[in-house]
Amino acid sequence: MKRSTMMNELSKLSKRNMVSFHVPGHKSGKIFEKYKIDIGSNIGEFDITEIPGADNLYAPKSIIKESQNRAKDFYGSDYTFFLVNGTTCGIISMIMATTKPGDKIIVPRDCHKSVISGIILAGILPVYIKPEIYSKLFLMGAVTPEAIERAIQEHPDAKAVIITYPNYYGICSDIEKIVKIVRRHNKILLVDEAHGAHLKLSEKLPISALDAGADIVVHSTHKTLPAFTQGSMLHVKKGRVDIDKLKFMLSLNQSSSPSYLLMISLDMAMSIAAEEGRFLMEKLIENINGFKNEFTEIEGLNMISEEIIGRYGVKNIDITKLTISMKEIGIEGSKLEEILRKKYNIQVEMADIYNILAISSIANEKNDFKRLCKALKSIHDDRKINHKRIDIPEFSFRIPKIEILPREAVYKEKENISFIESSGRISGEYIMPYPPGIPLICPGEVISREVIEYVKILKSLGISIVGVSDSSLDTIKVIK
Ligand SMILES: Cc1ncc(COP(=O)(O)O)c(C=O)c1O
Repeated sequence: MKRSTMMNELSKLSKRNMVSFHVPGHKSGKIFEKYKIDIGSNIGEFDITEIPGADNLYAPKSIIKESQNRAKDFYGSDYTFFLVNGTTCGIISMIMATTKPGDKIIVPRDCHKSVISGIILAGILPVYIKPEIYSKLFLMGAVTPEAIERAIQEHPDAKAVIITYPNYYGICSDIEKIVKIVRRHNKILLVDEAHGAHLKLSEKLPISALDAGADIVVHSTHKTLPAFTQGSMLHVKKGRVDIDKLKFMLSLNQSSSPSYLLMISLDMAMSIAAEEGRFLMEKLIENINGFKNEFTEIEGLNMISEEIIGRYGVKNIDITKLTISMKEIGIEGSKLEEILRKKYNIQVEMADIYNILAISSIANEKNDFKRLCKALKSIHDDRKINHKRIDIPEFSFRIPKIEILPREAVYKEKENISFIESSGRISGEYIMPYPPGIPLICPGEVISREVIEYVKILKSLGISIVGVSDSSLDTIKVIK
């Protein structure tokens, strides 16, 4: 039988032997090869359903329970649930389990779209906080404890606070102070730690949200540890969370046929993390430090480093995320991403206006960093590359006006109008650069002239905008 087109195409991609600085954390299966874990030839055997002996994700008694318990002990939670629909379903479930329709939730504006999905499904009202802006690299930074305190004082009826920790770029807010504030006001702290499943592997990394005292934490195990895509975990600390309600929401938001391949991969990721993780992380940190030493010698290149700590609300950074900019020598993020991919066979996670983001994990080897550094040096010295001054007008990252609740906006009647003429209208859709999937505009919010101009710039730089039914964004659906 012929192989499917998809298999052929994906094989072609993998045969290019690209250096992976993107998710998933197993880096194209390299770590499985290293530990001689053969999944491929047994794939049919492991893809099973809940027959006797195979346990049940929603009422675990044997193998799944044991595996979840191992993860619970590793992370120091009181309950750990495997997720087969990514962190997205965990975020939606934790929001729905800790609020009732009509409630308020406090949320920094740089949240992932899954948080907004949770807000829509729960029928609640978001109270947005503006994170600090790291203007040099045009990024949203951390959220300060003071901003959270202020938001709670202004909205004492809010039920919960949700933060992203670390953010996509590895920037960490002062979570320990935030925990204290949220506790003092008797609220629940939910943490989107999609990018932090590896933090337990070294004291040289920022404190994990669970260790800091968060109530519920969701991990994309697949992003920074060697699990398959969509394999995630939700961890809970006892006390302020209604576990039965949370379990109900998890069963509501996940498939009734959970994939054993994903669950096995979570189990496998935990074995690697528990047995080899600290050793591998030490090596990774050594390699990153070596890379940074060489990197700093290249003039005109910037990288988010420890020097940002103490500014823009930043308490710490996760150094396994490399946010690199060639803005000063006139190469924008999307251009740099393209050159690395096409000329040097290096695939990074994403590009924004000024930066590329390379996500490393315990599956990356020293040689990967050497290749990245060598490529950056060559690009820096390449006279054939068209360098241009990149002057983006300031963007305020102002929180848009919420005219109607996101959930209501989803169900309201809409009409299609020209995007560039949509200033002042209430959006019926998301406007979202992707990655990272942080919405500029959510359904129910007023589109401003500034957002329209900003989106025009993003598009001209080749950054894709998703969330809109017209993918070219010539038109947009607005509320009638
Ligand atoms: C900060 C953040 N939260 C949540 C998610 C959703 O995670 P998943 O893809 O595992 O559903 C992502 C995905 O990119 C993310 O970056």
